[in-house]
Order: sequence, then structure tokens, then C-alpha cells
Amino acid sequence: MSLVRLVYASRSRLVEADRRVELARILETARRLNAERHVTGFLMATPGGFAQILEGEAGSIAETYGRIMVDPRHDNLRLLAQDAVAQRQFTGWAMAFAEHNETTQFIFGLYGVSPETDIFEQPLDVLLDLAGELANART
Ligand SMILES: Cc1cc2nc3c(=O)[nH]c(=O)nc-3n(C[C@H](O)[C@H](O)[C@H](O)COP(=O)(O)O)c2cc1C
Repeated sequence: MSLVRLVYASRSRLVEADRRVELARILETARRLNAERHVTGFLMATPGGFAQILEGEAGSIAETYGRIMVDPRHDNLRLLAQDAVAQRQFTGWAMAFAEHNETTQFIFGLYGVSPETDIFEQPLDVLLDLAGELANART
């Protein structure tokens, strides 16, 4: 089985009034479908954008990203990496989640993510380091 890690960033199209409900819906769907397909990963959300790491078997990742790509809740998707990897980083997480809020803004800030500089603008290495840091902070 070939294990793949895909990373993308996108611009959020969620409007503030629906944001909480829509984020909960996205996570509920993501976790249900990912668990069925043995997809794991991390979703980061800021008011303006998303960045997501998806890990799993190549076919499952291609199929999952195909659905995510056409989701109208975001746009301007930038595919940053799609690489074969030896092991998963987020084993056990059908989709971990971290949001830019009062608790996490310090960590996001360390990686240059602020209300002015959104997450969808960040390069791959920054996103991977940020995800690792956020994952450490929650365990
Ligand atoms: C930012 C974002 C992240 C998402 N992450 C996932 C995910 O990890 N896995 C997944 O199956 N769907 C994810 N979705 C939801 C899919 O886009 C889609 O709504 C879902 O897979 C259901 O597809 P369907 O409506 O074609 O059945 C995400 C959507 C958004 C906007």
C-alpha cells in the first residue's frame, strides 16, 4: 500500500454568521468519511482560510481531495504537496482540527499567521511546522 501525504491551502468562503455551524458540519462529514477510508490528517482554520494535511492510501487521498476541491465553502485551492511518505504523522485522527482563536493565536502568530496574513498564503514548510506545533499543544 502506498501512503501519500497531500497538503493544500484555500480561501474560506464561510460567512461569519454561519461559520460555527458550517465548521462543525465540515468536521462531522470529514471525520465520518475519513474514518471509512482510513484517511487521517489535520485541518487548520482561520477567519479567511483553511490549510489541510491529508494522509492515506493514494487512491483514497485522490478521491477525497477530488470532493474537497469542488466544495463551494472554499476556493482558490493551492495544492502544495502530494508526496509518498513512510508513515503517518496524525495516526488516530480521522481529522484533527485547530482554529485561530484566543487560545491558539499565540502559536499561529509564531508562524506568521495573523488577521492580516492569512493561513492560505503560507508556504508548505510553515504549514507543516504549524500543524506539528498545534498537534503538540493539544496532547
Ligand atoms: C475545508 C474543508 C475540509 C474538508 N475536509 C474533508 C475531509 O478531510 N474529508 C472529507 O471526506 N471531506 C472533507 N470536506 C468535505 C467535502 O468537501 C465534501 O463536502 C464531503 O466529502 C461530502 O462530499 P459529497 O457531498 O460529494 O458526498 C471538507 C470540506 C472543506 C470545505
